[in-house]
Amino acid sequence: MARGDETAIVTGATSGLGAQFAEQLALRGFGLALVARNVARLKDVQANLISRYALPVEILQADLVTDDGIAAVESRIAHRPPRVLVNNAGFGLREPFDKASIEAEEEHLDIHVRAPMRLMHAALPPMLERGAGNIINVASVAAFTPRGTYGAVKSWTVSMSRWANNQYRDRGVHVTAVCPGFVRTEFHQRLGAGLDDVPSWMWLEADAVVATALKDAGRGRAVSIPSARYRAIVSASRVVPAALSQRLAARGR
Ligand SMILES: NC(=O)c1ccc[n+]([C@@H]2O[C@H](COP(=O)([O-])OP(=O)(O)OC[C@H]3O[C@@H](n4cnc5c(N)ncnc54)[C@H](OP(=O)(O)O)[C@@H]3O)[C@@H](O)[C@H]2O)c1
Repeated sequence: MARGDETAIVTGATSGLGAQFAEQLALRGFGLALVARNVARLKDVQANLISRYALPVEILQADLVTDDGIAAVESRIAHRPPRVLVNNAGFGLREPFDKASIEAEEEHLDIHVRAPMRLMHAALPPMLERGAGNIINVASVAAFTPRGTYGAVKSWTVSMSRWANNQYRDRGVHVTAVCPGFVRTEFHQRLGAGLDDVPSWMWLEADAVVATALKDAGRGRAVSIPSARYRAIVSASRVVPAALSQRLAARGR
């Protein structure tokens, strides 16, 4: 098969983890469809990838908290089903649950649950028909401890990915939830979160997170937790009493 014949769709491809997924999938020879809201940034990423990898790279402007935005990506999937779908786009909310507007909370639910669920639902049938496909859903280690609606939506991602991987792997389709800890991206600055007190050892680099995620997805794993230190934290959280883990998680959402 020629380079670029297989396509990957990456949501939130203009920065952070999404830009790294686009980069590392291009390195593996995938043609790309990049999804985000900011067209100027999409064009920059597109031009950069085409110039370095000489692969087909298309862009799709879509706001994934809107019906129209989701429908645009569903339509792209229906017309040219991808070999890989990366549900990565996301943002956090600064306000605690009792202070955030319900509209902001609904958009947060839509970007982290509704959009990935709909895109998975669109991508699965053609992948199953072909007997090959990978769906990568970016979750978080926040899925494993109570952290407001952010932890709750990421728990949905892990639960759904685990179930779907088990359900569909025998038919050639693997679904992987990627669960990073703190990663240096634009996520926290967009959120306006001051994280000076986060120790340096807790920070991960996006390129390493994505390299581990793609390796685990290639092995058909349902859950990928990048870095040994976060795997140890998640293992420990399984044996820490619920009351203590609630206290430890109280700082975040
Ligand atoms: N950074 C961390 O510490 C961390 C840790 C664990 C998990 N995660 C998860 O990793 C994923 C990627 O986050 P990141 O850290 O790479 O953040 P980031 O650097 O802020 O990138 C977010 C991406 O999502 C896109 N996006 C945001 N809202 C969108 C919308 N409504 N419709 C379409 N695209 C939208 C952004 O592009 P536009 O603004 O142009 O739309 C951008 O490309 C998220 O799901 C996040 O929850 C992050």
